[in-house]
Amino acid sequence: MYSIAIDGPAGAGKSTIAKTIAKKLEFIYVDTGAMYRAMALYFIRNGIDPLDENAINAACADVHVGIAYENGAQQVLLNGENVTGLIRTEEVGNMASKTSAYPTVRATLLDLQRDLAKKADILMDGRDIGTNVLPDADLKIYLTASSEIRARRRYNELIEKGEKADLAQIEKDIIIRDKQDMERKIAPLKKAEDAVLVDSSDMTIEEVVECILEEFEKVK
Ligand code: C5P
Repeated sequence: MYSIAIDGPAGAGKSTIAKTIAKKLEFIYVDTGAMYRAMALYFIRNGIDPLDENAINAACADVHVGIAYENGAQQVLLNGENVTGLIRTEEVGNMASKTSAYPTVRATLLDLQRDLAKKADILMDGRDIGTNVLPDADLKIYLTASSEIRARRRYNELIEKGEKADLAQIEKDIIIRDKQDMERKIAPLKKAEDAVLVDSSDMTIEEVVECILEEFEKVK
């Protein structure tokens, strides 16, 4: 069985690229960010202060995150409820970034993530997959792009959807999120020593997909 780990900062295009590659290789795609987001949704719904570690720890005992697949698409279950459509907001993303720094939150999800990798060929994306979740992954990719480019892509996505967007604010939020994810004590976002660095700033999605598929050919 093969495993591919793709890590990188917010907005680097990980999920679009990971989904495309998983489809081509017929691997199961696991989006670990969605799991942290499901937990964050629970904390928001229950009015839990992200700075109150004791309250977060206590809440973790009541949270069960599960994964299911519907027509090949990952669904995230929060205590049995399918919350896939509710977790893509900035509010949930920011809460996830703050609360994912706590050891209890990370421990709640780690076994689930590792178990998934034992069952099938998988492509897993997140922040600590190559460094922590799957240190023996067959291929590790660190996918990044400049904060300016990541903000611009996010801005274009929102505008295309007909939503309002403020480019400068989006870039500020991206920089804050990077800092939180890179500076936390446990499983911070960083490139694994044996990961291949892919800077997508000047690459199209197709070029990044091609590049990662070529890297996989080398280790297969
Ligand atoms: O990738 P996404 O934006 O969905 O992730 C939301 C947040 O979840 C990240 O900002 C990060 O703090 C956290 N996360 C993590 N480890 C992972 C995946 C996501 O800490 N493997």
